[in-house]
Amino acid sequence: MNQTISKISGNTLWLAPLAGLTDRAFRILCRRAGADVVVSEMVSADGLLHDSRRTFEYLYFTGEERPFGIQLFGSDPAIMARAAEIVASVKPDFIDINFGCPVKKVVKRNAGSALMRDPALAAAIVSAMKRALEPTGIPLTAKIRSGWDAQSINAVDFARALEDAGVDLIAVHPRTRSQMYAGRSDWAVTAAVKRAVSIPVVGNGDVRSASDAIALKDQTGCDAIMIGRGALGSPWRFAEIRRFCLTGAPPTITYVEKFDWIRQHVELVRRFKNETRAAIEMRIHLAGYTKGLSGGAAVRERIQHSTVLEEILGELQRLYHG
Ligand SMILES: Cc1cc2nc3c(=O)[nH]c(=O)nc-3n(C[C@H](O)[C@H](O)[C@H](O)COP(=O)(O)O)c2cc1C
Repeated sequence: MNQTISKISGNTLWLAPLAGLTDRAFRILCRRAGADVVVSEMVSADGLLHDSRRTFEYLYFTGEERPFGIQLFGSDPAIMARAAEIVASVKPDFIDINFGCPVKKVVKRNAGSALMRDPALAAAIVSAMKRALEPTGIPLTAKIRSGWDAQSINAVDFARALEDAGVDLIAVHPRTRSQMYAGRSDWAVTAAVKRAVSIPVVGNGDVRSASDAIALKDQTGCDAIMIGRGALGSPWRFAEIRRFCLTGAPPTITYVEKFDWIRQHVELVRRFKNETRAAIEMRIHLAGYTKGLSGGAAVRERIQHSTVLEEILGELQRLYHG
């Protein structure tokens, strides 16, 4: 097995790609909190070929994020191969293909989860990208769903086709495209994929606590665990899971510790953005950081339009320190 793949797949915790949320600042924060692997937000292969500056910004990362993967979406094997060459030039640890995005804008271009309806084209994309990446030694991974809809659940056959085409690792979010993000993830699908392929499988979907992480591993035999929404507003989730898995200690992160993570988040956002953009970015994470806390709704109300980071931080400090 490729050295990077064994490093990123052995009992590791991954931060899932979340478009609009898992940017550099949040990825570094989660790495510090105990995520072993982080992935970029999805990047358009077409956008890279059209030399779009905004698309290129998604490729920026820092050494603190490694091991770091860049996720591409697209539907044309030649374009995806050329995009892989461009991405390889910034030297990520791996490149991932998005076969799961359910949003209309992506699916109508036959990309993301639409490709689960066309395993032959998906395999052609993998083969073309593998060929393009061969001289670089950068491994290629893929993230899939259960299938398109309840009538066409094909994750097992799809995963086999990708493995045959040369993909090095597969992450499974076991919902169909029709489900979007509703209902429960069907971890039995992930277990079936794990039994069917010999490459590492990353389990994903509805992990929000240390006991969920252990249950996912037990029920699927997956090699690694990927957490998305469970880390929003709780980057310390990784520290809790790590502590629990290593020592059996129950989650005991105090409010003082939690606020320290938020303070670090603000510092990181400030490192990459000007004050106004940074405040806007923190406001995106506000829902997560105030959710379920008494007084949280009032804080959201007061700072929903704030462009002053210190004001946002001050409100959160009062909320967490009481
Ligand atoms: C707001 C949002 C953005 C997402 N963006 C991406 C993305 O860019 N690429 C991707 O593969 N999956 C994306 N996903 C799916 C997640 O990576 C993950 O598979 C899904 O949320 C289930 O995991 P969770 O229950 O741990 O959140 C996104 C999900 C959400 C809610």
